[in-house]
Amino acid sequence: MCGIVGYVGTREAGPILIEGLRRLEYRGYDSAGLAVVNGAHVVTAKEAGKLNQLEASVASGMPRGRCGIAHTRWATHGPPTRDNAHPHVSGDGEIALVHNGIIENADVLRRGLEGEGYVFQSETDTEALVHLIDHFWAEGGPLEDAVAAALRKVDGAYGIAVVSSRDPGKIVVARHGSPLLIGVGPEGEMMAGSDAAAVVALTREVVYLDDGDYAVLEPGGYRTFHLETGEVERAVHHVSWDLAAIEKGGHDHFMHKEIFEQPTSLRNVMRGRLLPDEGDSRLGGVAEHQFDLGRVRRVVITACGTSWHAGLVGELLLEEYAGIPVEVEYASEFRYKNPVLEDGTLVLAVSQSGETADTLAALKEAKHRGVKTMGVVNVVGSTIARATDFGIYLHAGPEIGVASTKAFTSQIAALALFTLHMARRRTLSVVKGKELVDALERLPGQVEQILAMEDEIKQLAYEYKDARNFLYLGRGYQFPVALEGALKLKEVSYIHAEGYPAAEMKHGPIALIDDDMPVVFLAPRDPIYAKVVSNVEEVKARGGRIIAVVTDEAPELQGKVDHLIRVPHTVPGLMPILTSVPLQLLAYHVAVARGADVDQPRNLAKSVTVE
Ligand code: AGP
Ligand code: GLU
Repeated sequence: MCGIVGYVGTREAGPILIEGLRRLEYRGYDSAGLAVVNGAHVVTAKEAGKLNQLEASVASGMPRGRCGIAHTRWATHGPPTRDNAHPHVSGDGEIALVHNGIIENADVLRRGLEGEGYVFQSETDTEALVHLIDHFWAEGGPLEDAVAAALRKVDGAYGIAVVSSRDPGKIVVARHGSPLLIGVGPEGEMMAGSDAAAVVALTREVVYLDDGDYAVLEPGGYRTFHLETGEVERAVHHVSWDLAAIEKGGHDHFMHKEIFEQPTSLRNVMRGRLLPDEGDSRLGGVAEHQFDLGRVRRVVITACGTSWHAGLVGELLLEEYAGIPVEVEYASEFRYKNPVLEDGTLVLAVSQSGETADTLAALKEAKHRGVKTMGVVNVVGSTIARATDFGIYLHAGPEIGVASTKAFTSQIAALALFTLHMARRRTLSVVKGKELVDALERLPGQVEQILAMEDEIKQLAYEYKDARNFLYLGRGYQFPVALEGALKLKEVSYIHAEGYPAAEMKHGPIALIDDDMPVVFLAPRDPIYAKVVSNVEEVKARGGRIIAVVTDEAPELQGKVDHLIRVPHTVPGLMPILTSVPLQLLAYHVAVARGADVDQPRNLAKSVTVE
């Protein structure tokens, strides 16, 4: 949610900031802006709308200077207008600030500051902070002292970057609850970013700030501080991926690229982790942690959105193979209830970004209650990855498309690896373990076969592109896939879609069926297939148009469905990886056919770092 970039060094900041914003635009695209310190002035440029609006407006005169900050917004307070766009500046224009997050006591601060004569230009919560920094400015500076004093008065979540012509040539950054990192350039150039994508064109050496940290970036170096303890050391990490990972590489959209990366991302999540002879998995991050997984009596999986859907598959896997009771909770609900977390409960957070505010808060609540926490996370070094006791990284590479695709299938694979680990230490036989290992190994090749069917699915997409509603139905392991298929379609095409357990349909949603209602049935041949066939009959009898995802000739469905999408077969617990891929392609091509902005769907942002 929102991207921050900062640069200070020997080159012109403007073009570097724009490039950084381009890499972060997936985090928010309501408005974009930048501020560059030029001698005694801070020059600001900002525009409502996507980054290209800002680019167009600076094309004829980019603010000049070697120190600057920039922002791409996902509005929380105030509509996405130019006035509300960041950077926000002090009344004299000498301090500029960009912010990611929510200042919860902004109204109180604003009233106090207005009482002192400060005049506000925007409706954002952010603006209070820039005036507060001005309020705390002591003659002679330095900037970081005023920033630290202001932050001590702030409640809520923030990642910020601040510059000022009163103390030029430096950027002060800080974080509490919203991500922020420093990029340490080779020639003493320094950058700041909401994530590594912002800085990787300059450097792959990054320093992640912790909550309560702030830092001063100047040409040649940086210093890190904690609001309570003063100067601190923070480790430098090496980012393992490069620029190519965050470029489209010949695809029209990131979503398309990422769908097609799935054979590779699945190989990566399994690499070095399968033990074919023992029918087991080896999970470094789990083994290193001195915690006896044999003590786990219950698992609570917490996540949001697509990651929550992967969690539902994880629940079924852990229950089937390892016999452990599992509950799956929306992180946003879990954090505000009174969860029963007794000794022996493991709380498992699933998150692509590792920054989702609700998931992080759920995790904090679990830690507060003293239970062990585990992460299934993609972004290395992210807040959730660092906050959990141990975990499994997906190694899927950066996911830029706002609609999650490769992370979903990797999350299921990671949960299957964890299931194997738990199950083999409980009751699962080596023979059954080997079957699961074998099925996992075959997945990447099977996904390749499905991707080869793109043209067929594209045709289908054109046929259904004008539908106003869609139903997705599945049972057992396929129910989470129905939910995920519907979410993908909603997100990128704006067609209303619902996922339902196929048998629940007769308890209500069947009233919706008419000959305008496309229904996608997930019907792989598994123990519940015959029941799903009956559900197909029920829809057919009412005139619905049916697309069925099946695993063989499906003679029982011939003549009853309008379209069959045939995917390879695997064990039921891994089938969601295979059945979800055609649904990703369907959503993608429907959206493209409707002319929708696939990578930046309206109202959404990739990583939701506010409540
Ligand atoms: C998926 O397509 C979504 N854009 C969204 O539901 C996402 O999965 C959710 O916000 C959770 O994000 P996370 O995995 O980064 O925590
Ligand atoms: N709350 C701020 C605003 O609405 C920042 C939002 C963001 O993270 O982009 O402007």
